[in-house]
Amino acid sequence: MLEILDLQVAYGAIRALAGISLTVPRGQIVALLGANGAGKTTAIRAISGLVAPRAGRILLAGKEIQGLQTHAISRRGLAVVPEGRRIFANLTVQENLLLGAYFRKKAAWLPDLKRVYELFPRLEERRDQGGGTLSGGEQQMLALGRALMSRPRLLLLDEPSLGLAPLIVKEVFSIIRQLNEEGVTILLVEQNAAAALKIAHYGYVLENGRLALAGTGGELLAHPHLQAAYLGDGAEGPEI
Ligand SMILES: Nc1ncnc2c1ncn2[C@@H]1O[C@H](COP(=O)(O)OP(=O)(O)OP(=O)(O)O)[C@@H](O)[C@H]1O
Ligand SMILES: [Mg+2]
Repeated sequence: MLEILDLQVAYGAIRALAGISLTVPRGQIVALLGANGAGKTTAIRAISGLVAPRAGRILLAGKEIQGLQTHAISRRGLAVVPEGRRIFANLTVQENLLLGAYFRKKAAWLPDLKRVYELFPRLEERRDQGGGTLSGGEQQMLALGRALMSRPRLLLLDEPSLGLAPLIVKEVFSIIRQLNEEGVTILLVEQNAAAALKIAHYGYVLENGRLALAGTGGELLAHPHLQAAYLGDGAEGPEI
């Protein structure tokens, strides 16, 4: 579904991605892991057309998309749940959802709106409330729901667990798995390696703009390097 070949991205003199290659097969969940500043969000921005790559190719369902505008890429079936959710505080919950369907006709998106409200009954209860009044977990669900309103083939998620309590993280991840079982291919960016690898078919680890490791969830969870960097002593939180 998604193939990235030797992708390089720089912000002026800062090289954020030094040439990464990865594949997200149709029907799978692939995790992209890495510490702060590793280049995860940059990869998502490049795939979705928000930043122009310096070099490399990006193929969505076999067709090159690098250099296309964001809206052209979303019409080809890509949706993004961005880092920090990017909810419009002054729009209602339903208005936020409809933004995800801006290029579709009402007859086309109406069943998807129903579906989103089935998945997230709390959003339906709060449909006329301002997006900014939702809790963090509800805003994450709204961001997910908004992405689903375009009925994507490929969904990019940038740290959906960030800032959420463990119970809500579990809920969000179980919905991600459910969407995948219904046929959505997913690239899941996470710092929470343990949670992401539990649902991912395959994972890549980014370090300083380069891929350091790749493997199945089981292989990566057992890898000593990953254990030390992401699952080790710090996993239960910092000592104070
Ligand atoms: N607009 C920008 N201008 C200059 N440098 C940038 C810009 N955006 C990101 N960078 C730099 O690129 C590198 C990768 O950043 P990126 O946001 O992709 O990391 P990340 O893996 O998503 O980190 P985090 O887990 O903290 O979200 C960092 O060194 C960052 O400072
Ligand atoms: Mg990021």
